[in-house]
Amino acid sequence: MCGIIGIASNKKVSTNIVNALKKLEYRGYDSAGLATITNGEINEKKCSGRVEKLEKILFQSPNEGNLGIGHVRWATHGVPNEVNAHPHSSEIVSVVHNGIIENSDKLKKEFEKSGTTFKSQTDTEVITVLLTEKLKKLDPLKAVFETIDMLKGSFALGIIFKNHKEFVIGARRGSPLAVGYSNNENYLGSDSYALKSMTNKISYLDDGDVCVLSKDEVKFYNHNKDKINKEIFTLSEDKASVSKGNYKNFMIKEIFEQPVTVKTCLKEYIDKIREEINFYNLPLDPKEINKIVLIGCGTAYHSCLVAKYWFEEFTSINIEVDIASEFRYRKVRFDKKALYIFVSQSGETADTYAALDLCKRQNVKTCSVINVVESSIARNSNCVLPIHAGPEIGVASTKAFLGQMLVLYLLSLKISEVRNDMQNIEYKKKISELKKLPTLISEALKEEEKIQLIAKDICESKGSMFLGRGSSFPIALEGALKLKELSYLHAEGYPAGEMKHGPLALIEDGLPVVVIAPKDKYFEKTLSNMQEVIARGGKVLLLTNSDGKVISENIRFQINLPDSDLTLTPFIFTIPLQLLSYHVALFKKCDIDKPRNLAKSVTVE
Ligand code: F6R
Repeated sequence: MCGIIGIASNKKVSTNIVNALKKLEYRGYDSAGLATITNGEINEKKCSGRVEKLEKILFQSPNEGNLGIGHVRWATHGVPNEVNAHPHSSEIVSVVHNGIIENSDKLKKEFEKSGTTFKSQTDTEVITVLLTEKLKKLDPLKAVFETIDMLKGSFALGIIFKNHKEFVIGARRGSPLAVGYSNNENYLGSDSYALKSMTNKISYLDDGDVCVLSKDEVKFYNHNKDKINKEIFTLSEDKASVSKGNYKNFMIKEIFEQPVTVKTCLKEYIDKIREEINFYNLPLDPKEINKIVLIGCGTAYHSCLVAKYWFEEFTSINIEVDIASEFRYRKVRFDKKALYIFVSQSGETADTYAALDLCKRQNVKTCSVINVVESSIARNSNCVLPIHAGPEIGVASTKAFLGQMLVLYLLSLKISEVRNDMQNIEYKKKISELKKLPTLISEALKEEEKIQLIAKDICESKGSMFLGRGSSFPIALEGALKLKELSYLHAEGYPAGEMKHGPLALIEDGLPVVVIAPKDKYFEKTLSNMQEVIARGGKVLLLTNSDGKVISENIRFQINLPDSDLTLTPFIFTIPLQLLSYHVALFKKCDIDKPRNLAKSVTVE
């Protein structure tokens, strides 16, 4: 994964590099480093841990220099320590890298045979060694082209050279890389977000491109080494703030922001006067669509699973859902009349991007449900449906999940209406029910105090289960994912009806089991499954909307959520699950916004 930055300027660059690295920490935060050219030498500083630690090191011993590169790491090859942190430098060249070099072992072995020793366990160091060799005979640009020709895998690179303090070279294959422009200063960054505080003028490198960035100009070359021009985009202003305000951390802020983000998204898609959902530019006429394939990873995949229930309920279209990392390697039969929908908060997830790329090469129609509209996935799909959630900083996705579900819900309704699968009166009724969603979510958020007590009760457990049927099943998966990623407490999400086929063996005295049972057509059946759990000693937290009545004396906790149109329950029942994982993690003193071993944007396979 990792985030990279490079700056060529007419003034010192280390402070701006550190500030940009703080923005990139969502891509990795287990080590950080930078290198500048100071008095004609490569001056490298790096450490394990956060950018804050690097900042303290630089405070004690500042880095001079008007040209530099920086890196935040999410370890792939080698433990997160100072030696493995980037940059990786030789006497004459210094490299930061995002991605994975798949043939690094092979290349390393060849170098080792001729006596080269490697300092780190990383795949990146082989790039430094290769460049150092090539620079003995070639100029920097040629050395970079020859080096990347030898690499297999994915990379975005930032490179500086001891003997060329006037430029940074950037190169991309597979991993994203953007260039930013300003007066007497130009930038290289893993994404536009990192560069946004310095410029709103951005270009994007395509696969195989190389750029040479000096303070006055940026030159671009394609994979054939031909000089090319790049379109310059002007970034949109962020309406939402990226500060925590009075909240303890970003996650809880983002959870409580949801009534507003949902309202904003509804405003963007529902025409107030005509009471109509607007979707322009869909790449296929909804009447012609014979299949929809929904693809994503993690939480985004869960939103696809929920959406399958809506599409099946509202339309007559066949629906498939796939995990991007599986889809990209399967022998898929592509269908020209199918719409392939990619769901991603960041728009940079490597597996989702690769699945999209596969579809693009097959010339089938794609659409992306995205939060970051400048992202690679958005730029490469036929049609973009933004979720309008504003920047999501907490690593665990919360408001983006609701946003993804909301756009997919709106899309399923619209497609159904255009195809005449749903009668207009029902369609209008659904739209008017949707408008109640911000208030219903606010109501659900009021359960926080009760959830705090439950969190205290379960935080020392050694495991937990989340059960649901119908669209509550993917919500159970999402509840379990949130709990494990935030609190490191083992959690399994399961279809309630599957328990008897094996997982029931896990139930023992006091095991917390969250049962998601809105009063829908599955209600009675889910309650029967709950009783089977109770009979075996499970400690049940029941989420329902049964007007405050306690359903069984043997339930340890019960939360009654507001009533709504039954197709909207996934939005409302997600809220207590987000709060539960948050409060368990808080009791366990976990790092809420940056859970261990994770990163916000997953740019490796
Ligand atoms: C979990 C979480 C992840 C992401 C997944 C995909 O809370 O955030 O599971 O949902 O890594 O990320 P995006 O949506 O950026 O493609």
